[in-house]
Amino acid sequence: TRPLKVALLGCGVVGSEVARIMMTHADDLAARIGAPVELAGVAVRRPDKVREGIPAELITTDATALVKRGDIDVVVELIGGIEPARSLITTAFEHGASVVSANKALLAQDGAGLHAIAEEQNKDLYYEAAVAGAIPLIRPLRESLAGDKVNRVLGIVNGTTNFILDKMDTTGAGYQEALDEASALGYAEADPTADVEGFDAAAKAAILAGIAFHTRVRLDDVYREGMTEVTAADFASAKGMGCTIKLLAICERAADGESVTARVHPAMIPLAHPLASVRGAYNAVFVESDAAGQLMFYGPGAGGSPTASAVLGDLVAVCRNRLSGATGPGASAYTQLPVSPMGEVVTRY
Ligand code: HSE
Repeated sequence: TRPLKVALLGCGVVGSEVARIMMTHADDLAARIGAPVELAGVAVRRPDKVREGIPAELITTDATALVKRGDIDVVVELIGGIEPARSLITTAFEHGASVVSANKALLAQDGAGLHAIAEEQNKDLYYEAAVAGAIPLIRPLRESLAGDKVNRVLGIVNGTTNFILDKMDTTGAGYQEALDEASALGYAEADPTADVEGFDAAAKAAILAGIAFHTRVRLDDVYREGMTEVTAADFASAKGMGCTIKLLAICERAADGESVTARVHPAMIPLAHPLASVRGAYNAVFVESDAAGQLMFYGPGAGGSPTASAVLGDLVAVCRNRLSGATGPGASAYTQLPVSPMGEVVTRY
């Protein structure tokens, strides 16, 4: 069987881990896919940086030329941000590739538009790594729960802020000290404002709400409040009430089914609730649906290896589809439900 060719766009914390695992686990991946996968090129911004294990001849600064080659089966986009990521993904589809992406910002801004282009070209668009690192959430919502009706998705979807809040709560560490540690561990975004001001969690909420409720929810539709104003005094009063403080993303379908809401803000969590014991950069998401009831997804939500795990899972799925000639689930056929940012105030959590 011919090898499937993979182009990697971006080789930072996640990209370098994806490349490493592709090379060290090449035999296992080939066995699971049914054909070898070959790293055909790696587009980077800084070609002079030492990248252990990646042959120098694969490195290029010309991402556009790489996605236009025409022989690439899968483009793995790990650049982040809106441009040039959007143009590169579009060009990749137009030149015959399927796409695996971890780009929260882009998918939250125009996931539906990208799905439309993928469908036009009969290609796959997978992005498990865009939400909650290693935790399977996109695939369960798109596939396992496709026959159920999801009413609520709620939880901790940003590892950096959970790490900071956890540190502040348990060690009394200051905000900056905890943030610096989260950055050093590779959890924070390049600009941690996206984490601490809640933009990252809001992007994830938009993606989850869109998939869960089969509608279109964009970043701008999500009410957003970060956690930069949470103080040691807030933790002390929360403790006095038997609670802790977590930054939550909450996506809900209105009881009448006529609208959805999505919001991100710090919330008091009773210590007995499972969300209260989510430590470090871990994430935890509850999904409530008509038939299944309540499901909880829990695991490492940030960092190079966990996020690479999700990327590689998508890569295997997309490669299998390439071989069988199938395509995975596209955008859920959606009806546009009105998105009301706050909805009713929920006091249950
Ligand atoms: N900065 C993100 C977080 C990375 O801390 O959760 C994973 O999306």
